[in-house]
Amino acid sequence: MTEAEGRKLHFWDAVWDLRVEQCPCDVHFCDWLEKEKIRDASIFHFGTGSHHIVGIRTAENGSNNCVLGITASPGEYDSFVKLAIDRPDVEKTYKVFFGDIYQLEDRLLPPFDVVTLFHLCEFRNERNDLYGALTDRQVTDMLTHKVRSGGYILFYTKSFAFDTAESTVIAHWEKEEKVEKVGMYETLLVYRKK
Ligand SMILES: C[S@@+](CC[C@H](N)C(=O)[O-])C[C@H]1O[C@@H](n2cnc3c(N)ncnc32)[C@H](O)[C@@H]1O
Repeated sequence: MTEAEGRKLHFWDAVWDLRVEQCPCDVHFCDWLEKEKIRDASIFHFGTGSHHIVGIRTAENGSNNCVLGITASPGEYDSFVKLAIDRPDVEKTYKVFFGDIYQLEDRLLPPFDVVTLFHLCEFRNERNDLYGALTDRQVTDMLTHKVRSGGYILFYTKSFAFDTAESTVIAHWEKEEKVEKVGMYETLLVYRKK
C-alpha cells in the first residue's frame, strides 16, 4: 500500500451481483423476514450488493418494512442511484448510503427493529486503523444499542470470516450485551435484544 492509499477511506473496490449459490445471506434474510411476518419494521443492512434484493423485496412484498443499507463500494452505490431513479416505489422505503461501517456515527443512527451484521470481520484491517476506525466489536455494540427491545440482530454463518466473528466478537458480545440467541434460520444466526 502506498502512503497516499493509506490516507484514503478503506472502500471496497468491487461490485457484488446476486450470487445465491455462493452467498445466500440476503435471500435467506428476505425469506426470514417473511416467515417471521415482520412488518412495519426499520432495518439496518450491512452490505447491499449491487442487486439490492433486500430493499427491492421489502418494497414489493407489502410488509411496509423500510431498510437503511450501507455499501463501501462506489459501484454498488452508483447502482443504488440508478435504482432510486428508476424505481421510486422502491426508493420510498429503501435508502442506501456510501461509507465505511467502521466509521458509523452513533448520533446519526435512529433506532432499528432489525440489524444485519452479515459481513462482520470480513473487511476490516490495518487500513481502517490508519484513520482510527471502530473495531468489529465496537460496530456490533453500537448497532446492538440501536436495536429496540425485542428486536433482532442477525449474523451470516457461511461468511468466510464467521469463525473469526464468532470467536473474537459474538462469544463475548452475547455474554456482555442484553441479547439472547434465538437460533438458526438457514445460514443465518439470529439473536434477539432483551
Ligand atoms: C460480498 S458483498 C455481499 C453483498 C450482499 N450482502 C450479498 O450477500 O449478496 C460484501 C458487501 O459488503 C460491503 N462492504 C464491504 N466493506 C464494507 C465496509 N467497510 N463498510 C460497509 N460495507 C462494506 C460491500 O459494499 C458489499 O455490499
